Amino acid sequence: MVILGHFCILIVSLGIFGAIKADDGYCGLSGKWMESLTLSRDILKSGFHRELVTLVECDPSWPEELQVLLVQKLPRGAYGDPYQLASLRQDTGLQVLLDTEVDLEAPAYESSGFSMFVYPTRDAQNPKILQTVVPIHGRYHRPSDSGQGWERIEIEPPRLLLRADGCEQLLPSGPHVLVDAPCSVHNLSLCKWLEIHLPQDQRHVSLEVPSG
Ligand SMILES: *[C@@H]1O[C@H](CO)[C@@H](O)[C@H](O)[C@H]1NC(C)=O
Repeated sequence: MVILGHFCILIVSLGIFGAIKADDGYCGLSGKWMESLTLSRDILKSGFHRELVTLVECDPSWPEELQVLLVQKLPRGAYGDPYQLASLRQDTGLQVLLDTEVDLEAPAYESSGFSMFVYPTRDAQNPKILQTVVPIHGRYHRPSDSGQGWERIEIEPPRLLLRADGCEQLLPSGPHVLVDAPCSVHNLSLCKWLEIHLPQDQRHVSLEVPSG
């Protein structure tokens, strides 16, 4: 009985710090932690070459092994440059995968949209914040009928996915949507990720590029 008692205390105290595998397979994100999650975005710079900034903020008490993935769809009017992203990966540690080959030269009307998998990494200085700055580029557009000389490209909000190695269940209860996506930029096997629906209003952000 005494041993069992200690065992329970161990589970509880490790549970506070995050992921320990309990009998029901639940590894430990609290409802309070989930409520602390926010996501905000901005687009910096002007013209064809922009930076898409995504900020995930949360209570810093999250499990060390928790991985975050942002699945960002880009419409046909914009693209991420795989060569630029590869060199940023070396220089700054930015971790982004693209779900398809990208034709950098194609105009918007000959392109299709695609998705970027963005793996934010934690800043040891500020464990509350995951910030990623991903360069994106506008494609050339046909002159518009209205002759306004520019085209607006809407960037929809990313999907926010979480996982922790060895945990099938991050949340205690309720129906959760699991999504297959690459485990990491270094490991392209598909992992199960938990999709998080953020309560706050997720505005689209947009950029305007010259057309014609
Ligand atoms: C990729 O990650 C998964 C999940 O963490 C792991 O099970 C698998 O062994 C990894 N594969 C490689 C090649 O490292």
